[in-house]
Amino acid sequence: MLRRVNFYSICFAFGLSVLLILAGSRYTDNANNRPYPESRRNIRNFFRIEDGEELFPQPIPTNPYDGSPNIDKILEKTRGKIKLELSNYNLTHSGAKKLENLLLESGGKPLRSVIISTWRSGTTFLGDILNAVPGNFYHYEPFLSYEIIQIRGPPQADKALSTIKGMLNCDFKDMEDYFTYGKSHWHQFSHNTRLWDHCKYKKELCFDAEFTSRFCRLFPFQSMKIVRLRLRLVRDILEDHELNVKVVLLIRDPRGVMQSRQHRGFCQPAPDCWQPELLCADMISDYVAAGRLQQQYPNRLMVLRYEELALEPTTTTLRLFKFLGLSLTPAVDEFLHSHTNIEVAGVSSTFRVSREVPFRWKSVLDYDYVEEIQMACKEAMELWGYRMAYNKSHMVSKEFYPLERYSITQ
Ligand SMILES: *[C@@H]1O[C@H](CO)[C@@H](O)[C@H](O)[C@H]1NC(C)=O
Ligand SMILES: *[C@@H]1O[C@H](CO)[C@@H](O)[C@H](O)[C@H]1NC(C)=O
Repeated sequence: MLRRVNFYSICFAFGLSVLLILAGSRYTDNANNRPYPESRRNIRNFFRIEDGEELFPQPIPTNPYDGSPNIDKILEKTRGKIKLELSNYNLTHSGAKKLENLLLESGGKPLRSVIISTWRSGTTFLGDILNAVPGNFYHYEPFLSYEIIQIRGPPQADKALSTIKGMLNCDFKDMEDYFTYGKSHWHQFSHNTRLWDHCKYKKELCFDAEFTSRFCRLFPFQSMKIVRLRLRLVRDILEDHELNVKVVLLIRDPRGVMQSRQHRGFCQPAPDCWQPELLCADMISDYVAAGRLQQQYPNRLMVLRYEELALEPTTTTLRLFKFLGLSLTPAVDEFLHSHTNIEVAGVSSTFRVSREVPFRWKSVLDYDYVEEIQMACKEAMELWGYRMAYNKSHMVSKEFYPLERYSITQ
C-alpha cells in the first residue's frame, strides 16, 4: 500500500516538474519575442517618447490603480458601466424619457432619496436595498464626524443642511470635516460600493473632493441615509424644488432600538443614544413633523416602520420603490433574497433581518428595563402604534403582538 502511494507521488511530482519546465520555457519565449518598447527604440521613437506620446499601448495592469490613477479613464469606464447595467431598466416610473435626463453631468436631474432615522433602526438594511439598484450613488451617513449626537437645530443644523444639499448636488467642496474624518474611518466611504470599487485600491481617490464630485455626477440615482438629523429640519431640503428629493422616515419600536443599542454597549454613554427619554422625544417630534410635511409636500415623504420592512420585505420594498419612482431590478430581488433569511453576526451586518429580529427584544430584555422604556415612551408608542407589555409573562407570551395600526394626523 505504502509502496503504491510512493509510486503515485513520484509520478505526480515528475509530471508536475515537466509542466513547470514547459510553462517556464514558454514564458521566457514570450518575453523574448514580445515587442518590448525599449528594444524597438530608435532615435526617432526616442524623441517621440520624450514628447510624451504613447508609442505602444501598455498592457492593462492587473491592478489599474497602481501608481497614479487615470481619473478620466475611471470616469469613462464608469459611464459605460452604468449605461450597460441600466440597458434593460424600465425608466417609466422615473418619469424620465432617457437615461441622460437623470444624469447631472448631462444637465439632467437624478432621482434623489434621503432616509431619515436614528441608530439601530434598520437603516443599514434599507440603505443597502436602495443601493442594490444599478446606477445608485450612496451618500452614506454624511454626519459620522459629528460622533454620537442628534442634530435638532442650532448650532449644527445650518451647516448640516448645506452639507446635505451639496452632496445631493454632487458638490463636495468646502467639506473638509467630512473628508478628514473619512481618512481614518473608511466605512464612511465603503458603503458607497460603486465609489469604493475604486478607492479600495487607491484610498486618496475617496479623499479627493473633485474626483468624488465628478464621479457622483455620473449616477442617475442618488440615495442618502442619515441617523443624526431630526425630520423637522428636512423641510429645508423639501422646499428646494430643484433638488426634488423624496424622504423616507424609518421608525422602529423603541424597545427593539434600545435592545439593539445595548448589544456591545453600542453607544454608551452618549445620552442622545442611550436615554430612552431622548429617543422617544425625537419620535414624537418626528411624528408631528411627518404630519406637517406630508400635508405640505404630498408624495414627498413616506413613513415606514422597520417591523413592516422586516416582516414583509418584498411587499414593503415594492411600496417604497413605487413612492421613489424606482423600478425593481433583478439585483434588488437578489439582494432581498440573500439578505432576509441568513443570520450572520456583526454590528452593522444586514444579514440579520428575519422574521424574528423585530421582536427579539421580547425574549432578550428584562421586563424591568422594558417597563422603564415604556414609561418614558408611552406617548411615542401610542402615536406610532406599538403596544405595551403589561408584565413579564404578557411580554414573553405568543399572544402579545407588539404592532398595531397607527395613522399620522395632520
Ligand atoms: C415599464 O413599466 C410600465 C409601468 O409599470 C409598464 O407599463 C411598461 O410595460 C414597462 N415597460 C417595459 C418595457 O417593461
Ligand atoms: C399579566 O398581564 C395580563 C394582561 O393584562 C394579565 O391577564 C395577567 O393576569 C398578568 N399576569 C400577572 C402575573 O400579573
